[in-house]
Amino acid sequence: MDARKPKTLEELIKMLHQIFESNSINVEEVQELMEAYKSNPQEWKKYAIFDQHRYTRNLVDEGNGKFNLIVLCWGEGHGSSIHDHSDSHCFMKMLQGELKETLFDWPKGEDGEMTERSHRILENNSVAYINDSIGLHRVENVSHTEGSVSLHLYSPPFQTCQVFDQRTSHKNVAQMTFWSKYGERTPFQCPAPKENN
Ligand code: SIN
Repeated sequence: MDARKPKTLEELIKMLHQIFESNSINVEEVQELMEAYKSNPQEWKKYAIFDQHRYTRNLVDEGNGKFNLIVLCWGEGHGSSIHDHSDSHCFMKMLQGELKETLFDWPKGEDGEMTERSHRILENNSVAYINDSIGLHRVENVSHTEGSVSLHLYSPPFQTCQVFDQRTSHKNVAQMTFWSKYGERTPFQCPAPKENN
């Protein structure tokens, strides 16, 4: 197995496990490794479960507790809210189609329009990186004809993040949920009843 060129998704996952055994992460190394894997739909299609209404998050691997590897499926026009990354690293590799990433500055308060810093189109097989010191982002599939699929690595894994209203900068906490895990649709869970006392 070539140390830098994973030939399959399975090899990529093995190599990621090795890299994340260490407590200090070299962002460029992870980015290059993920870029070196050339997307093969046969290898990830079992995780690519779309929904017609919004993008889905499909858990692929829990990285020995060090990272979450997730396939995200974006139907035409689907997008995320402007969000932070809860002090984690976020690597995002395109597996199919394109996505638009828009970067925003952290808002100074909660009473005005957020400042858009830049945007770019992420092409197939490219890998983007962001963390909270870089800023906030929103990701969208702007295509009217094609779904997009991306592979996200979050380290350490996180269960909530902050989401922001672009017009007002008002923020809320959002729960990160999975549409499927290991290729199996996640059973619907009723929210736990609230205690009255
Ligand atoms: C994104 O980066 O826009 C995807 C956020 C998520 O993991 O749900």
